Amino acid sequence: MTRPTVVVTRRLPVPVEERLAAQFDAHLNRDDHPFTAAELQDALRGADALLPTVTDRLNAAVLATEPLRAKILANYGVGFNHIDVNAAKTRGLVVTNTPDVLTDDTADDAVMLMLMVARRAGEGERQVRAGAWTGWGPTHMLGTKVSGKTLGLVGLGRIGRAVARRAHHGFGMRVIFHDPYPPPPAVTAELGAEPKASVDEVLREADFVSLHSPATPETHHLIDARRLALMKRGAFLINTARGDIVDEAALVEALKRGTIAGAALDVFEREPLVPPELRTLENVVLLPHLGSATAETRAAMGLRALENLTAFFAGAPPRDRVV
Ligand code: 8YV
Repeated sequence: MTRPTVVVTRRLPVPVEERLAAQFDAHLNRDDHPFTAAELQDALRGADALLPTVTDRLNAAVLATEPLRAKILANYGVGFNHIDVNAAKTRGLVVTNTPDVLTDDTADDAVMLMLMVARRAGEGERQVRAGAWTGWGPTHMLGTKVSGKTLGLVGLGRIGRAVARRAHHGFGMRVIFHDPYPPPPAVTAELGAEPKASVDEVLREADFVSLHSPATPETHHLIDARRLALMKRGAFLINTARGDIVDEAALVEALKRGTIAGAALDVFEREPLVPPELRTLENVVLLPHLGSATAETRAAMGLRALENLTAFFAGAPPRDRVV
């Protein structure tokens, strides 16, 4: 039997590429360039499967290519808002993702950002590196205390829960959340997480707001000018989910006006574009989409995508089918 052809759109950790090449007729992206729409269409026409990443815009126009040979999009990552799932469904494409394996790293990233922005870690590092630090002082670069404060989570899925656990059990924080599909009360009790009836209620009460919703049409610009104005003046916004959930222009305005105290962002609306104004603000921490960026997790994500492909081509239901 001939091995299925799989186009892997970006360079993956070596052990993953080796396993892919051993099991499939794997077409690897040696120079790691992000694919153009035309390259994605070539892959959809020429391969049995694609293993895409967040940098591949698999929109309806791209997926409309003819004749379509691909049967499955085995996405590398838990978020799949870069794939038009309705178009994929219409075209008979199966879509899978890689949940679970990146939960801890992404939660760690959110906690790291919360601490960084509250304790002015980026500012401090910039000062030291610039040779501008003149010495310890009782009022030098005072930040905001984290322990014991209230953390508001928008979304209490896998990653939101992992953040709640760290914040509550590690930092003694009060955790409040809103999720339209909340986990059972036994789960929230173990996390010490208190449900709120709306996102607005969470925003009004929290000292730190951390976003953990998927990017969907319903969550597009969920955090807009009106909602930013509901937050406390001393509160901080943390986003490790997707840039689309925040109206970036409204956030810049809120930060400039002092509507909120600061923001810590790992994701942006038009990656890799970061609004120049955000880059000039001191009360903002900016990371280049590092949520799952550890060697261990990036390998585990690849193996999970491989597992989905293996099951699919063996005629079994892939474990992480989303469409
Ligand atoms: C990934 C992510 O690095 O999994 C996700 O949803 O945002 C990141 O952890 C990225 O999506 C890889 O495609």
